[in-house]
Amino acid sequence: MRDSRQLPSVAFLISGRGSNMVAIIKKVKEGKLKIKPAIVFSDNPGADGLKSAEKAGIPVSAFPPADFPTREDYENTLVNTLKKHGTEWVVAAGYMRLLKKPVIEAFPGKILNIHPSLLPAFAGLNAQQQTIDAGVKITGCTVHFVDMGMDTGPIVMQTAVPVEETDTVESLSRKILHAEHDTYWRAIKKVVSGYEVRGRTVVIK
Ligand code: GRF
Repeated sequence: MRDSRQLPSVAFLISGRGSNMVAIIKKVKEGKLKIKPAIVFSDNPGADGLKSAEKAGIPVSAFPPADFPTREDYENTLVNTLKKHGTEWVVAAGYMRLLKKPVIEAFPGKILNIHPSLLPAFAGLNAQQQTIDAGVKITGCTVHFVDMGMDTGPIVMQTAVPVEETDTVESLSRKILHAEHDTYWRAIKKVVSGYEVRGRTVVIK
């Protein structure tokens, strides 16, 4: 058993409002999720979520890829920043970039993402619009491990959300986001206790 000083140390990657990050930190403060938020990083120095993280007393860092000669330089600096804060796990929550080799290889099997659809359906951008365009009756959210593909890593947890005929992208996005806030922390809680991947199936130990 880890003592409290050895809680799994988690970095958050955000690009915007950061409501998933805030929802997860709330569960940490309530004692329902035993992790240590190590740092919140954004590729967008103007991200609203950075202010929420500061309010919660979590170290923040922000720099855009445009400040670096190559994408690799950007990610190497990101890895150094995360490591400097003792990061073991990386939780992407509304981080609007594909992670590349430097980050993926620095945290093998320890990077999570949340996506607003039931993957493998509707990967990529504008998942809610894709959902409405396809006319499906059930959608939801997916927490998955990050690999080199776009929303292709092994699935940890999914929550279903019904699609009504009257739904718009906005109303559906709200419902899915509500489900995300109650899904992500549960998924983190599961995987940090240990897991293995059998075929494509994530098995919690
Ligand atoms: C969420 O819908 C998430 O699924 C997607 O981006 C959105 C981020 O929202 N990847 P927030 O920044 O956590 O509020």
